Amino acid sequence: MQRFEQYLSANLPNVPSFHPLYEEALGAMLLAGGKRFRPQLLLRIVEAYEPMLFDSALPVALALEMFHTYSLIHDDLPAMDDADLRRGHTTLHKRFDEVTAILAGDALNTDAFYLIATAPLREDIRIKLVEILAKNGGGSGMVLGQAIDCHFENKPLTLEQIKMLHTNKTAKLIAASLMMGAVIAALPRESQQALYDFGLDLGLLFQIQDDIIDETQSEEEAGKTTGNDGEKNSFVTLLGLEGSMEEAESLAAALEARFATFEPKLQEALEPLIGTYLYRHREGA
Ligand code: IPE
Ligand code: IPE
Ligand code: MG
Ligand code: MG
Ligand code: MG
Repeated sequence: MQRFEQYLSANLPNVPSFHPLYEEALGAMLLAGGKRFRPQLLLRIVEAYEPMLFDSALPVALALEMFHTYSLIHDDLPAMDDADLRRGHTTLHKRFDEVTAILAGDALNTDAFYLIATAPLREDIRIKLVEILAKNGGGSGMVLGQAIDCHFENKPLTLEQIKMLHTNKTAKLIAASLMMGAVIAALPRESQQALYDFGLDLGLLFQIQDDIIDETQSEEEAGKTTGNDGEKNSFVTLLGLEGSMEEAESLAAALEARFATFEPKLQEALEPLIGTYLYRHREGA
Protein backbone atom coordinates (compact mmCIF):
# COMPACT_ATOMS: atom_id res chain seq x y z
CA MET A 1 0.00 0.00 0.00
CA GLN A 2 3.00 2.18 -0.52
CA ARG A 3 1.24 3.59 -3.58
CA PHE A 4 -1.58 4.82 -1.42
CA GLU A 5 0.80 6.54 0.99
CA GLN A 6 2.62 8.15 -1.91
CA TYR A 7 -0.64 9.27 -3.44
CA LEU A 8 -1.79 10.69 -0.11
CA SER A 9 1.45 12.61 0.45
CA ALA A 10 1.28 14.04 -3.05
CA ASN A 11 -2.39 15.00 -2.72
CA LEU A 12 -2.66 16.58 0.69
CA PRO A 13 -5.08 19.51 0.90
CA ASN A 14 -3.53 22.30 -1.13
CA VAL A 15 -5.08 25.59 -0.09
CA PRO A 16 -2.48 28.31 0.21
CA SER A 17 -3.83 31.44 1.87
CA PHE A 18 -2.67 34.08 4.33
CA HIS A 19 -4.15 31.98 7.18
CA PRO A 20 -1.05 30.98 9.17
CA LEU A 21 -2.00 27.37 9.98
CA TYR A 22 -5.14 26.40 8.09
CA GLU A 23 -3.50 24.36 5.35
CA GLU A 24 -1.22 22.57 7.80
CA ALA A 25 -4.20 21.72 10.02
CA LEU A 26 -6.11 20.16 7.11
CA GLY A 27 -3.27 17.78 6.30
CA ALA A 28 -1.91 17.11 9.79
CA MET A 29 -4.13 14.20 10.82
CA LEU A 30 -3.94 12.58 7.39
CA LEU A 31 -0.16 12.68 7.60
CA ALA A 32 -0.18 11.37 11.16
CA GLY A 33 -0.82 7.86 9.87
CA GLY A 34 -3.28 5.24 11.04
CA LYS A 35 -3.97 1.79 9.74
CA ARG A 36 -5.54 2.97 6.44
CA PHE A 37 -7.99 0.13 6.86
CA ARG A 38 -10.82 1.59 4.76
CA PRO A 39 -8.79 2.66 1.71
CA GLN A 40 -7.02 -0.67 1.76
CA LEU A 41 -10.29 -2.59 1.72
CA LEU A 42 -11.34 -0.68 -1.39
CA LEU A 43 -7.99 -0.84 -3.18
CA ARG A 44 -7.46 -4.54 -2.58
CA ILE A 45 -10.73 -5.37 -4.30
CA VAL A 46 -9.94 -3.12 -7.26
CA GLU A 47 -6.43 -4.53 -7.53
CA ALA A 48 -7.74 -8.11 -7.53
CA TYR A 49 -10.43 -7.61 -10.18
CA GLU A 50 -9.54 -4.53 -12.23
CA PRO A 51 -5.85 -3.71 -11.72
CA MET A 52 -5.99 -1.29 -14.64
CA LEU A 53 -8.32 0.87 -12.56
CA PHE A 54 -6.05 0.94 -9.51
CA ASP A 55 -4.72 4.44 -10.16
CA SER A 56 -8.18 5.76 -10.94
CA ALA A 57 -9.39 4.35 -7.62
CA LEU A 58 -6.71 6.14 -5.59
CA PRO A 59 -8.66 9.40 -5.24
CA VAL A 60 -11.68 7.42 -4.04
CA ALA A 61 -9.51 5.58 -1.51
CA LEU A 62 -8.12 8.91 -0.34
CA ALA A 63 -11.67 10.24 -0.07
CA LEU A 64 -12.52 7.39 2.31
CA GLU A 65 -9.48 8.15 4.43
CA MET A 66 -10.30 11.87 4.46
CA PHE A 67 -13.87 11.16 5.48
CA HIS A 68 -12.76 8.79 8.23
CA THR A 69 -10.13 11.28 9.42
CA TYR A 70 -12.79 14.00 9.64
CA SER A 71 -14.84 11.67 11.85
CA LEU A 72 -11.83 11.12 14.13
CA ILE A 73 -11.00 14.83 14.40
CA HIS A 74 -14.57 15.58 15.45
CA ASP A 75 -14.74 12.48 17.68
CA ASP A 76 -11.80 13.84 19.70
CA LEU A 77 -13.31 17.29 20.30
CA PRO A 78 -14.09 18.33 23.88
CA ALA A 79 -17.84 18.14 23.13
CA MET A 80 -17.46 14.52 22.08
CA ASP A 81 -14.70 12.30 23.53
CA ASP A 82 -12.37 15.06 24.69
CA ALA A 83 -9.21 13.21 23.70
CA ASP A 84 -5.63 14.48 23.73
CA LEU A 85 -3.89 11.93 21.57
CA ARG A 86 -4.66 10.56 18.10
CA ARG A 87 -2.48 8.52 15.77
CA GLY A 88 0.44 9.07 18.08
CA HIS A 89 0.10 12.85 17.91
CA THR A 90 -1.55 15.61 19.88
CA THR A 91 -5.16 15.95 18.72
CA LEU A 92 -5.86 18.80 16.36
CA HIS A 93 -7.90 20.92 18.78
CA LYS A 94 -5.12 20.65 21.36
CA ARG A 95 -2.34 21.38 18.93
CA PHE A 96 -4.15 24.31 17.31
CA ASP A 97 -7.59 25.20 18.67
CA GLU A 98 -11.16 23.97 18.60
CA VAL A 99 -12.30 26.19 15.75
CA THR A 100 -9.47 24.96 13.57
CA ALA A 101 -10.24 21.31 14.37
CA ILE A 102 -13.96 21.70 13.65
CA LEU A 103 -13.26 23.42 10.34
CA ALA A 104 -10.51 20.98 9.32
CA GLY A 105 -13.04 18.18 9.84
CA ASP A 106 -15.66 20.04 7.84
CA ALA A 107 -13.19 20.59 5.00
CA LEU A 108 -12.07 16.95 4.87
CA ASN A 109 -15.69 15.80 4.83
CA THR A 110 -16.70 18.00 1.92
CA ASP A 111 -13.44 17.61 0.01
CA ALA A 112 -13.84 13.84 0.11
CA PHE A 113 -16.90 14.16 -2.12
CA TYR A 114 -15.03 16.50 -4.46
CA LEU A 115 -12.34 13.85 -4.90
CA ILE A 116 -14.90 11.21 -5.82
CA ALA A 117 -16.79 13.53 -8.14
CA THR A 118 -13.61 14.33 -10.07
CA ALA A 119 -12.01 10.85 -10.09
CA PRO A 120 -11.16 9.50 -13.56
CA LEU A 121 -13.98 6.96 -13.48
CA ARG A 122 -17.22 6.55 -15.40
CA GLU A 123 -19.86 9.10 -14.42
CA ASP A 124 -22.44 6.53 -13.28
CA ILE A 125 -19.78 4.88 -11.11
CA ARG A 126 -18.86 8.21 -9.53
CA ILE A 127 -22.48 8.97 -8.72
CA LYS A 128 -22.91 5.54 -7.16
CA LEU A 129 -19.77 6.05 -5.04
CA VAL A 130 -21.02 9.42 -3.80
CA GLU A 131 -24.34 7.81 -2.95
CA ILE A 132 -22.75 4.98 -0.98
CA LEU A 133 -20.42 7.23 1.02
CA ALA A 134 -23.16 9.75 1.78
CA LYS A 135 -25.66 7.10 2.79
CA ASN A 136 -23.29 5.27 5.12
CA GLY A 137 -21.25 8.18 6.43
CA GLY A 138 -23.95 10.80 6.86
CA GLY A 139 -27.09 11.32 8.88
CA SER A 140 -28.32 7.74 8.58
CA GLY A 141 -24.88 6.20 9.13
CA MET A 142 -21.74 7.28 10.98
CA VAL A 143 -23.24 10.55 12.21
CA LEU A 144 -26.28 8.77 13.64
CA GLY A 145 -23.97 6.38 15.46
CA GLN A 146 -21.95 9.23 16.92
CA ALA A 147 -25.14 11.02 17.96
CA ILE A 148 -26.41 7.96 19.83
CA ASP A 149 -22.95 7.33 21.31
CA CYS A 150 -22.80 10.84 22.75
CA HIS A 151 -26.45 11.26 23.74
CA PHE A 152 -26.50 8.05 25.75
CA GLU A 153 -23.36 8.59 27.80
CA ASN A 154 -24.13 7.40 31.32
CA LYS A 155 -27.46 6.00 30.09
CA PRO A 156 -27.04 2.25 29.63
CA LEU A 157 -28.34 0.75 26.40
CA THR A 158 -29.24 -2.87 25.70
CA LEU A 159 -26.90 -5.15 23.76
CA GLU A 160 -29.13 -4.84 20.69
CA GLN A 161 -29.00 -1.05 20.93
CA ILE A 162 -25.22 -1.07 21.33
CA LYS A 163 -24.91 -3.22 18.23
CA MET A 164 -27.09 -0.75 16.35
CA LEU A 165 -24.93 2.13 17.62
CA HIS A 166 -21.68 0.43 16.59
CA THR A 167 -23.11 -0.65 13.26
CA ASN A 168 -23.83 2.95 12.44
CA LYS A 169 -20.81 4.71 13.89
CA THR A 170 -18.21 2.27 12.56
CA ALA A 171 -19.48 -0.72 10.58
CA LYS A 172 -21.32 1.13 7.84
CA LEU A 173 -18.22 3.01 6.66
CA ILE A 174 -16.23 -0.22 6.61
CA ALA A 175 -19.03 -1.98 4.70
CA ALA A 176 -19.22 0.99 2.34
CA SER A 177 -15.47 0.76 1.66
CA LEU A 178 -15.85 -2.84 0.51
CA MET A 179 -18.89 -2.03 -1.57
CA MET A 180 -17.22 0.97 -3.21
CA GLY A 181 -14.31 -1.26 -4.22
CA ALA A 182 -16.80 -3.72 -5.68
CA VAL A 183 -18.59 -0.93 -7.59
CA ILE A 184 -15.34 0.35 -9.12
CA ALA A 185 -14.40 -3.22 -10.05
CA ALA A 186 -17.88 -3.65 -11.60
CA LEU A 187 -18.63 -6.81 -9.62
CA PRO A 188 -22.19 -8.12 -9.92
CA ARG A 189 -24.83 -6.58 -7.67
CA GLU A 190 -25.06 -9.72 -5.53
CA SER A 191 -21.31 -9.64 -4.87
CA GLN A 192 -21.48 -5.95 -3.96
CA GLN A 193 -24.26 -6.69 -1.49
CA ALA A 194 -22.50 -9.77 -0.08
CA LEU A 195 -19.39 -7.68 0.55
CA TYR A 196 -21.45 -4.94 2.17
CA ASP A 197 -23.22 -7.38 4.48
CA PHE A 198 -19.92 -9.03 5.39
CA GLY A 199 -18.49 -5.56 6.03
CA LEU A 200 -21.24 -4.74 8.52
CA ASP A 201 -20.25 -7.68 10.70
CA LEU A 202 -16.55 -7.08 10.13
CA GLY A 203 -17.09 -3.48 11.21
CA LEU A 204 -18.93 -4.58 14.31
CA LEU A 205 -16.02 -6.85 15.17
CA PHE A 206 -13.63 -3.98 14.46
CA GLN A 207 -15.45 -1.76 16.95
CA ILE A 208 -15.63 -4.49 19.63
CA GLN A 209 -11.86 -4.83 19.25
CA ASP A 210 -11.57 -1.05 19.50
CA ASP A 211 -13.58 -1.10 22.74
CA ILE A 212 -11.26 -3.81 24.05
CA ILE A 213 -8.25 -1.68 23.09
CA ASP A 214 -9.70 1.22 25.09
CA GLU A 215 -9.72 -1.03 28.14
CA THR A 216 -6.49 -2.99 27.68
CA GLN A 217 -3.95 -0.78 25.91
CA SER A 218 -1.94 2.18 27.08
CA GLU A 219 -1.98 5.49 25.23
CA GLU A 220 1.47 4.70 23.87
CA GLU A 221 0.42 1.31 22.54
CA ALA A 222 -2.81 2.55 20.97
CA GLY A 223 -1.44 5.90 19.80
CA LYS A 224 -4.64 7.49 21.07
CA THR A 225 -6.30 8.37 24.32
CA THR A 226 -7.53 5.17 26.00
CA GLY A 227 -9.40 4.37 29.19
CA ASN A 228 -11.92 6.83 27.83
CA ASP A 229 -15.05 4.70 27.47
CA GLY A 230 -16.10 4.49 31.13
CA GLU A 231 -19.25 6.54 30.60
CA LYS A 232 -19.88 5.15 27.13
CA ASN A 233 -22.04 2.34 25.88
CA SER A 234 -19.05 0.29 24.81
CA PHE A 235 -19.06 -3.49 24.58
CA VAL A 236 -16.68 -3.60 27.52
CA THR A 237 -18.90 -1.46 29.76
CA LEU A 238 -21.89 -3.68 28.99
CA LEU A 239 -20.34 -7.16 28.78
CA GLY A 240 -17.06 -6.72 30.65
CA LEU A 241 -13.69 -7.58 29.16
CA GLU A 242 -14.21 -11.34 29.15
CA GLY A 243 -17.71 -11.07 27.74
CA SER A 244 -16.54 -8.71 24.99
CA MET A 245 -13.75 -11.08 24.04
CA GLU A 246 -16.23 -13.92 23.83
CA GLU A 247 -18.56 -11.82 21.71
CA ALA A 248 -15.63 -10.91 19.44
CA GLU A 249 -14.60 -14.54 19.16
CA SER A 250 -18.01 -15.82 18.14
CA LEU A 251 -18.43 -13.00 15.63
CA ALA A 252 -14.96 -13.73 14.21
CA ALA A 253 -15.77 -17.44 13.87
CA ALA A 254 -18.99 -16.66 11.99
CA LEU A 255 -17.13 -14.20 9.76
CA GLU A 256 -14.41 -16.71 9.01
CA ALA A 257 -17.01 -19.23 7.84
CA ARG A 258 -18.62 -16.64 5.57
CA PHE A 259 -15.26 -15.49 4.25
CA ALA A 260 -14.48 -19.09 3.23
CA THR A 261 -17.43 -18.97 0.79
CA PHE A 262 -15.95 -16.00 -1.12
CA GLU A 263 -14.14 -16.51 -4.43
CA PRO A 264 -10.51 -17.55 -3.86
CA LYS A 265 -9.33 -14.37 -5.61
CA LEU A 266 -11.28 -12.22 -3.19
CA GLN A 267 -10.07 -14.20 -0.20
CA GLU A 268 -6.47 -13.84 -1.31
CA ALA A 269 -6.90 -10.11 -1.78
CA LEU A 270 -8.49 -9.41 1.60
CA GLU A 271 -6.90 -11.97 3.86
CA PRO A 272 -3.64 -10.15 4.55
CA LEU A 273 -5.69 -7.17 5.73
CA ILE A 274 -8.50 -8.78 7.70
CA GLY A 275 -6.98 -12.14 8.64
CA THR A 276 -5.88 -10.87 12.03
CA TYR A 277 -9.50 -9.98 12.83
CA LEU A 278 -10.97 -13.19 11.45
CA TYR A 279 -8.66 -15.70 13.05
CA ARG A 280 -8.28 -14.19 16.50
CA HIS A 281 -10.62 -16.76 17.98
CA ARG A 282 -8.33 -19.60 17.00
CA GLU A 283 -6.21 -21.26 19.61
CA GLY A 284 -3.06 -19.20 20.15
CA ALA A 285 -4.06 -16.62 17.52
C1 IPE B 1 -10.77 4.40 14.95
O1 IPE B 1 -10.62 3.92 13.64
C2 IPE B 1 -12.20 4.72 15.19
C3 IPE B 1 -13.08 3.59 14.98
C4 IPE B 1 -14.02 3.61 14.10
C5 IPE B 1 -12.93 2.38 15.78
P1 IPE B 1 -9.26 3.21 13.22
O2 IPE B 1 -8.91 2.19 14.26
O3 IPE B 1 -9.38 2.74 11.82
O4 IPE B 1 -8.23 4.41 13.32
P2 IPE B 1 -6.95 4.70 12.44
O5 IPE B 1 -7.44 5.13 11.09
O6 IPE B 1 -6.13 3.46 12.37
O7 IPE B 1 -6.24 5.82 13.15
C1 IPE C 1 -15.43 6.61 17.03
O1 IPE C 1 -15.45 5.58 17.98
C2 IPE C 1 -15.92 6.14 15.76
C3 IPE C 1 -16.00 7.25 14.79
C4 IPE C 1 -16.99 7.34 14.00
C5 IPE C 1 -14.95 8.24 14.73
P1 IPE C 1 -14.44 5.74 19.19
O2 IPE C 1 -14.68 7.00 19.92
O3 IPE C 1 -14.45 4.49 19.97
O4 IPE C 1 -13.04 5.86 18.40
P2 IPE C 1 -11.65 6.06 19.13
O5 IPE C 1 -11.51 4.94 20.14
O6 IPE C 1 -11.66 7.42 19.75
O7 IPE C 1 -10.67 5.92 17.99
MG1 MG D 1 -16.24 8.27 20.22
MG1 MG E 1 -13.17 8.40 20.61
MG1 MG F 1 -12.78 3.62 20.86
